[in-house]
Amino acid sequence: MSLPSDLKDQFPLLSQIINGHQIVYLDSAASSQKPASVIEAMNSYYRTINANVHRGAYEIAAQATEAMEMSRGQIAKFIGANSANEVVFTKNATESFNLIARSWGGQNLSEGDAVLITDMEHHANIVPWQILGAERGFEIRWIPLTSDGHLDLDQFDQLLDGVKMVSVTAMSNVLGTLNPVREIADRAHEVGALVTVDASQYVPHLPTNVNDLGADLMCFTGHKMCGPTGIGVLWGREEILDSMPPFLGGGEMILDVRRDGFTPNELPHKFEAGTPPIAEIIGLGAAVSFLESLGMAEIRQHEIQLTEYALNALGERYGDELTIHGPKDASQRGGVLSIQYRDVHPHDLSQVLDQRGICVRAGHHCAKPLMRELGVGATARASLYLYNDESDIDALVDSLEPAGEMFAL
Ligand code: ALA
Repeated sequence: MSLPSDLKDQFPLLSQIINGHQIVYLDSAASSQKPASVIEAMNSYYRTINANVHRGAYEIAAQATEAMEMSRGQIAKFIGANSANEVVFTKNATESFNLIARSWGGQNLSEGDAVLITDMEHHANIVPWQILGAERGFEIRWIPLTSDGHLDLDQFDQLLDGVKMVSVTAMSNVLGTLNPVREIADRAHEVGALVTVDASQYVPHLPTNVNDLGADLMCFTGHKMCGPTGIGVLWGREEILDSMPPFLGGGEMILDVRRDGFTPNELPHKFEAGTPPIAEIIGLGAAVSFLESLGMAEIRQHEIQLTEYALNALGERYGDELTIHGPKDASQRGGVLSIQYRDVHPHDLSQVLDQRGICVRAGHHCAKPLMRELGVGATARASLYLYNDESDIDALVDSLEPAGEMFAL
């Protein structure tokens, strides 16, 4: 089964005219568009059951609580979690990483220990470890890359020596590389290390099962998977989350507060201090329903085909004048195409594309160590999602040449 060809009609924003052109949205790795069902679910919460959760005994408060907890259950099922208690709501994936570093890392990492990350991580999976490392004196090690944008695991066993946490992206937001998370997790577990997975670019695009991945902890965000901004997820195995101290303190995360201290709440509320983003959680539940109605296997298949089409079309038209970073085989990567075209600066390229209504991201993509490895300051990145089709790729392909005429030396 393939995806419906009129999928764009379900995304109100995709009917916009930008600079005189029908919008071509190719920046879903930064943030996806939202289907009408998600917008409507949030709208409906505010119009009909807007009240705080887990507090009021009245009807709409009970309905708001039920809607929020239903979303948690849906998300748990969507990622193959063993229980809804394993799904903690955060602000975004970045906050999920900070929670892990501060709470788990604060309890478990000190001088002589090491955290192993990779050269293709997003800053969200680098800086929280660096902040804690500066306080605690543990080492941060990096898995290098091969020339074709895969992880180089040749030295993995040596790198694992003394490591307590391996924290790795399941899919690079720059290269599109899909990493062998299961293999990494199995080998990390053999030496007693835990594994955190950055699934921000993975959960929106591929069928996800935390047990199949072999993860202990996993971070992802709502706004890249057709959901709203302001809502992220930390998933963790229950016994690990149970063993971790609270991150933020305040209301909701306690069972009791006395003058001499407090008793933390049960999971998952222990990590959810303050009023949660209720509308956003409900919106994320609607996003999960939307993705499930299409089928994650179908979404993945659609993206493989479209990525292959894009790699071929760009390669045939521009040959050596164009570099696309990352693996060449669409089945080993996601639909993230980081491009260098002639000597056109990525910002100039994205400006010319914008004049034609095409949205791509130019910059370092919050992955500066990777940019240094690639020897570039920035790339122009086109990233695909379920609503893109061949006409979007054709528009991109046709628009590079004019940018070259204007800006190439
Ligand atoms: N992390 C997001 C990106 O890759 C914002 O663009």
